[in-house]
Amino acid sequence: MAAELILGIESSCDETAAALVRGGREVLSSVVHSQAAEHARWGGVVPEVAGRSHLRKLLPVVDAALEAADVDLDEIDAIAVTNRPGLIGSLLVGLSAAKSLAWVKQKPLVGVHHIEAHVYAAAMEHDSAPWPCVALVVSGGHTALYRAKSPLLLERIASTRDDAAGEAFDKVSHILGLGYPGGPALSRMAERGDPRRFAFPRFRPKDGSLGFSFSGLKTAVLYHVRGQDAARATPNPEEIPDREHVAASFEQAVVDVLVDETLRAARRERLRTVLVAGGVACNRRLRLEMTRRAADEGVTAVFPSPAYCTDNAVMIAGLGWELLRAGRTAELSADATPS
Ligand code: KG4
Ligand code: ZN
Repeated sequence: MAAELILGIESSCDETAAALVRGGREVLSSVVHSQAAEHARWGGVVPEVAGRSHLRKLLPVVDAALEAADVDLDEIDAIAVTNRPGLIGSLLVGLSAAKSLAWVKQKPLVGVHHIEAHVYAAAMEHDSAPWPCVALVVSGGHTALYRAKSPLLLERIASTRDDAAGEAFDKVSHILGLGYPGGPALSRMAERGDPRRFAFPRFRPKDGSLGFSFSGLKTAVLYHVRGQDAARATPNPEEIPDREHVAASFEQAVVDVLVDETLRAARRERLRTVLVAGGVACNRRLRLEMTRRAADEGVTAVFPSPAYCTDNAVMIAGLGWELLRAGRTAELSADATPS
């Protein structure tokens, strides 16, 4: 099988990333510049700030990836770039840079779907292909289940009705005064807490369909912290009693719902493999409980390694290679699609 060398570029949200990957698997370099510090004071991603930061960082990050791999632009076979979905101003920075490089160097351009790339990240690190499988993508912007027949054939079978799971982690982390991004900080605090101390609600669709909702859970945590009085101000984070138990109980509620729905989907689809990807797939409790409960049902759970769960360009170059092989290159007139 041909092992083309792909330059991947990712700028859909708040990470500016570039990577060089050969044959969809062999990672020559991966550079990620996180904007977390620039967004921290706002408690979430500010699109204007993100776009400007990508503009400053994109070319230096591409240069750093080429240098780390000791590769010259002339040696690459194609340029793969995230062109959907994401923040439009952020997507356009990566796409414009990729188009310019493709034109100057006369290389094929490949447009990559960010969510499909998250799923591919889990596949590219394993020797045996996980397809067909049920794929759960859990990140700051998405929480959805897919029937994945191959890396290029994903059908969405369920999604969140409101917040994404990562967004819920970020909002609860903000309530508990743990900063942004919230997932890693909250799960660190949760390790010291009792996950059964508080019974926060677990959303289940009443009609038996598959689906997620996290806004009720976030509100339940807020009311818990304010003492059931909606009109009361949120107390200073340091004054919230049992913060570590709140964090652990919230995390357990999210994990229970993610594991239940994913395994229900696997049963319904009669599939023996579940794949979990996206930033929240870094979560230790989710990894442990998904693996254990899947095994109880004879189902295998696969995850990317943590570095490839959060946004990165390795997954873009990886899926870009599959698309290139399938002849699915893009025109230089290709556009970015926010949703
Ligand atoms: O995939 P990603 O980097 O960006 C999007 O495409 O959204 O995911 C970022 C999200 C954030 O909401 C962050 O809080 C969450 O992933 N996250 C975690 C953990 N690490 C990152 N959530 C829970 N536990 C973690 N360890
Ligand atoms: Zn992402």
